[in-house]
Order: sequence, then C-alpha cells, then structure tokens
Amino acid sequence: MLDKIEQLKKEIEAMVAQSADEVEQLRIKYLSKKGEVSKLFAEFRNVPAEQKREVGQAINTLRDFAQERLDVLRSGVQEQKDSSVGVDLTLPGESMKLGTRHPLSIVRNEILDIFKRLGFVVSEGPEIEDDWHVFSALNFPEEHPARDMQDTFFIQRNPDVLLRTHTSSVQVHDMEEMEPPIRTVTPGRVFRNEAISARAHCMFHQIEGLYIDENVSFADLKQTLLYFAQELFGEGTKIRMRPSYFPFTEPSAEMDVSCSICGGEGCNVCKYTGWLEILGCGMVDPNALESSGIDSRKYTGFAFGMGIERIAMLKYGINDLRLYFENDVRFLNQFKSAH
Ligand code: DAH
Repeated sequence: MLDKIEQLKKEIEAMVAQSADEVEQLRIKYLSKKGEVSKLFAEFRNVPAEQKREVGQAINTLRDFAQERLDVLRSGVQEQKDSSVGVDLTLPGESMKLGTRHPLSIVRNEILDIFKRLGFVVSEGPEIEDDWHVFSALNFPEEHPARDMQDTFFIQRNPDVLLRTHTSSVQVHDMEEMEPPIRTVTPGRVFRNEAISARAHCMFHQIEGLYIDENVSFADLKQTLLYFAQELFGEGTKIRMRPSYFPFTEPSAEMDVSCSICGGEGCNVCKYTGWLEILGCGMVDPNALESSGIDSRKYTGFAFGMGIERIAMLKYGINDLRLYFENDVRFLNQFKSAH
C-alpha cells in the first residue's frame, strides 16, 4: 500500500496541463469520488490495524499534495490565458495625449520674446489695485472724463479698491521701485465692465511696455515698434502713427500695421483701409514721471500698450473673442507652437 502511495505521488508530481479541461481531467483521475485517492481510502479498510496510523497519514498527505498541485496547474493555465488569449498584442497602443498651449499664451510669449531680445525685462503687478496706480498716478485727475474711457469694476463699497482696467498700472509700480534706465514689458489680465460679445469682453489681456532713460525720444519709440511689428507680422510690415490722446503720454499716438492678411491691398479684415490698429503709445507725460518719483528734467521715456486678444485674432484669423475663454478643445487643438 505504501508503495502504491509513493507511486501515485510521483505521478502527481509529474502532472502537466495545457488547459483548464486537462486540469479537470486530472482532478477527476485523482480526486473525484471514483479517483485514485478515493480508491486508496476504500482499500484502507483492509489495512492491518498496526499500519492504519501510518497509512492513513500517508493517504491524507497525498490528497493534500494532489490538491495543491492541481491548484498550481489551474493558476498556471489561467495566467497563460490572461497574457495571450484575452489580450490582442497586435492592437495599437493608447497614445498619451499632449495638451497644446492656449493661443493667447503663444502670442504673449512671442511678443515678450521680441522685447526681451531688445533688453526689456518682464515685470508683473497685481490685478486688484488702488485708484492711485490705475488712474491718479497716470495723470487721470479725479472726475476727469478720461476715466470713462475704461468702465471700471470696483470691489466692495470702497472706490479705492478696483480691478485694473489696463496694465499701465504696473508702469507706476516699476517707476516707483526701479531706478532708470528702466526697460519693462508687462503681460497681464485686465477687467472692464463691458457687455460680452464677439468684439468685447469683461476680461482680456494686455502687454504694456515702458522705457525710461536719459534722452529717450519719439524716434526711439518709432524704431522699437517698427522692429517689433516686423518681427511679429513679417519683414515687409509697415507701421503708421496716428495722433491720439492718453492722459499719461504726451504726445500720444495709436499705431497701425499694414494689413497682414491682404498686404495692404484692402480686405474685409482691414475694412478696405489696408491698415490694422494694434496699440496705443506715446512719450510718458512729465506729470506721470513725477508722480512716481522720476525726475522729469533728467529723464524721458516712452510707453506702449496692446491687447493680446486682438493681435492673436489678426494672426490666426479668429473672429470671436468669446472663443478664447470657452475652452472648447476643437478650438484649442488648432494651435501648435514651439512657444
Ligand atoms: N492703457 C491703454 C489702454 O488700455 C493703452 C496704452 C496707451 C498704454 C498708450 C500705453 C500707452 O502705455 O502709452 O487703452
């Protein structure tokens, strides 16, 4: 009997199975009611009393061993199935989707890079401001109608706390905190109380530029902006200045570039004028210099400010401001850039 048990143990040790069916056949052969182990239990009755203990133990051990081996075979078969049958290894992998930069960020970075090449540094300031930095220090007298050019959001009941309506407010911080020569470009979000439409929004982005030093002239302003326009819109781009008014610059101008879409021939984007308005600029008013602690007898400077949304619209042919803020991936996906 013990020999037989030993023989079965060897068989069980050598069992192999390629499929769940084969494992089941082996289970039936050894562990079912009519299986080999059951037969041993049946024969056990005839074992002499003095051997019962030893033989009984050996049969129990064999049964446990068979059970273990079958479990091992079963999990082996299952693993094979998981790794080969259930998964089609020829299917293409799932690619990782990379995001794209927002068109406003692309254009902002491009503009900042152009001015950085000329030695300007990037400065930033707060979006929640006081009246001084947004208006008073920039030569907007209290009650002056020029304040109505920019419909302001005031916070709380305190008219001295407001959302900046332009990034010109950061000029004031820069002049207060830095010593000339000052060359800064300031990107940022600005807020105006306007009804939202394709052409206007209550929130948009500007870049402000400021250059203060001895002997800075209008010719420097013009040449700097010509270089900027040609870098941004292409070599052949022309500029023209039209007289304008801002309280913090004297003289003030608005600058147009030759239409990048029709090349100046006239089209519906430039309304058949051949020109597109892109920014306001001028020589910093001596009053604005003095308000921020700069000696206007020693120093002069120029400033300019532009809307990023508008420039991105011209560059990409975008016709509705609201698209920038809706975050529709079908819109956003179209902008790919090194920036
Ligand atoms: N701050 C003006 C605006 O928001 C834009 C501007 C005009 C900025 C002339 C300037 C400037 O620095 O010199 O409409």
